[in-house]
Amino acid sequence: MSHFQVKAIQSLQAELSVPGDKSMSHRAAIIAGLADGDSLIRNFLPSEDCLNTLHAMAAAGVSYEVLEEMVGFGPIALRIHGRKGKLQAPQKPIDCGNSGTGMRLLAGLLAAQPFECELFGDESLSSRPMGRVINPLSQMGAKIDALGEKTGCAPLRIHGCSLQPISYTMPVASAQVKSAVLLAGLFCEGVTTVIQPAETRDHTERMLEAFGVQTQREGQAIRLTGGQTPQARDFRVPGDISSAAFWIVAASAMPGSRLLIRHVGLNPTRTAIVDVMRRMGAKITVVNASSQDGEPMGDLEICGAALSGTEIFPAEVPNLIDEIPVIAVAAALASGKTVIRNAKELRVKETDRITTVVNNLRSMGGEVEEFEDGMEITGGHALHGATLQSFGDHRIAMAFAIAGLFASGETIVENTACVNTSYPGFSRHLDAIMAEASDASAYELPTVSHTL
Ligand code: S3P
Repeated sequence: MSHFQVKAIQSLQAELSVPGDKSMSHRAAIIAGLADGDSLIRNFLPSEDCLNTLHAMAAAGVSYEVLEEMVGFGPIALRIHGRKGKLQAPQKPIDCGNSGTGMRLLAGLLAAQPFECELFGDESLSSRPMGRVINPLSQMGAKIDALGEKTGCAPLRIHGCSLQPISYTMPVASAQVKSAVLLAGLFCEGVTTVIQPAETRDHTERMLEAFGVQTQREGQAIRLTGGQTPQARDFRVPGDISSAAFWIVAASAMPGSRLLIRHVGLNPTRTAIVDVMRRMGAKITVVNASSQDGEPMGDLEICGAALSGTEIFPAEVPNLIDEIPVIAVAAALASGKTVIRNAKELRVKETDRITTVVNNLRSMGGEVEEFEDGMEITGGHALHGATLQSFGDHRIAMAFAIAGLFASGETIVENTACVNTSYPGFSRHLDAIMAEASDASAYELPTVSHTL
């Protein structure tokens, strides 16, 4: 079984690019697959999650050609032949693997098609709540059976039919739920409205707009008139800020470090990690800011500094939900207390990320108190190496590899194949950074991002 073997480094001097954004790659596979015409998607994330969504669209009749691959992983440039909104019935159940995003977005899309199909996933995904998409889609007239052992969980049998538009106020701030309802709304006659309790990532709205589908935004309400067909276009996926977050924390917390991360997505619904790290004292500068295909992006320059604790604001939580495991690591390295509350959602991610983070931090000598909706970390205790579990959760595996860069002795993170669900090439970057730190002149960082 694969594992990370990590030793402390004294400083991080590197330039790197992280692979394409996971959220946008899922949406690119779906929206380009629905579009009228052919779309060239560049810097697609060839992670297991996004490949499962691409294969799901292929099972529904979408064909594509691979133009460039990340060796050993999958396509990073592909031409997708859109089906002008007309999908066909998959021949067998669709495997969504580990991906909540894939399953929830596809549930919205497939509920509105004139055929029956089934979505299933791995053990983790089969225990995550699907009622949050089944409820609004049922209000639209969808017929979805949750067949899992756990109530309201996958597999999902979807009896596609024609749907009615609704106005839906989401009880939880979830971009996945918002996107599922909007994708279903594309196939309804009339206006579908989703009202979010707090701002969530808006890649679906931006990408639909980029593909020529009009959406309206008014405060926290998003409206879309059904019957619009996305128009094919080329789309370049920026680097994933949630993957960059691991290196942002590593470099920020290590005085004397300098790191440049190129071509990172800087959508304001995703950049709270930068705000929080700056509040903790991190020196982060955005250089070469630009915007491409409706998404802001730029390079991040990070210089190491001594960090101090902070409080995460409730409104920030949906914006940095995926970064909380590595923020907790930053908090353990900072002086003073860091308070993370209003984050109960963490309990229904790939693992219960409150418990898995708390347990692993304690195993390394961190001081942390667990709450139902978060944790309080008292930083400044020296971390020591330990043998840790990833619990099959990619973000836990990577967050604790970063912790190992600061710990005395050796840190082993077990069961790390899961990182391929979001960051293919992470272990190459980790090895390169450790090698660079031990002999800076001998090693050139590999890049896993390609420019066409
Ligand atoms: C995602 C939304 C977030 C995030 C997930 C990706 C998306 O989930 O945790 O990794 O692509 O829409 P929720 O919106 O359900 O909180």
